[in-house]
Amino acid sequence: MTTFQIRNLSKIYGTDNSKVVALDDVTLTIPKNQFVVILGESGSGKSTLLNMIGCMDKPSTGKILFEGQDLTKLSKAQMTEFRKNKIGFVFQSYNLLPDLSALENVKFSTELIHQSPEGAEQALSAVGLKDRATHFPGELSGGEQQRVSIARAIAKKPEILLCDEPTGALDFETGIKILEVLKEIQVTTENTVIFITHNKEIAKIADRIIRLRSGKILSVEENLSPLAPKEVEW
Ligand SMILES: Nc1ncnc2c1ncn2[C@@H]1O[C@H](COP(=O)(O)OP(=O)(O)OP(=O)(O)O)[C@@H](O)[C@H]1O
Ligand SMILES: [Mg+2]
Repeated sequence: MTTFQIRNLSKIYGTDNSKVVALDDVTLTIPKNQFVVILGESGSGKSTLLNMIGCMDKPSTGKILFEGQDLTKLSKAQMTEFRKNKIGFVFQSYNLLPDLSALENVKFSTELIHQSPEGAEQALSAVGLKDRATHFPGELSGGEQQRVSIARAIAKKPEILLCDEPTGALDFETGIKILEVLKEIQVTTENTVIFITHNKEIAKIADRIIRLRSGKILSVEENLSPLAPKEVEW
């Protein structure tokens, strides 16, 4: 079973002498229910690819099929709808609202899509932060704030969880905890996690490793024995 089939995808930013080819004829299949890592150096096109998959932006050419539907053909409103219904995002910066408590931050996102508030509480429990529900972001550590942002992304139970270097700003120990939370969520909810990193060691926890270089696919590797996050060292 596949979620995304990406065909001949290119993204060119700018025009003429300011032109940047961020993605260059990328063809790729992303299976369902996997923890997929996109690995590549800075500037290789990872975020660009993730943004196209998450319907944040459109490619210059090519197709992204999601269960047979070509996402590149959607209108702006349909793209928003797709993001709302199917996608959870976690970024390197936590982007929490400072004047809302942890729970309110998570509820804020579920209310946007008219879901029950229990979803928010369950999500905070799932990331191990039930006892921090009333704390404000300024009262939480970086790792805890990132866990709130993960709770916010998973509260609506998205089929697809897109993570753009969520451990990038965290120390080693805290980063491992975040990986554990994400891996656990992927396994228990059977969703698809696409996780961006430039760290080869982190990539070892993936079921599938997609390597990008200069906007092109360098390799796609099926990993039959992914490491547990605890076993990762960097
Ligand atoms: N909005 C934009 N306008 C112009 N160029 C852009 C834009 N966004 C990205 N780029 C360029 O496209 C290329 C790919 O960028 P992208 O952000 O996808 O890389 P990345 O692999 O995510 O890098 P990093 O690991 O540093 O986040 C880079 O050369 C970048 O400078
Ligand atoms: Mg990036």
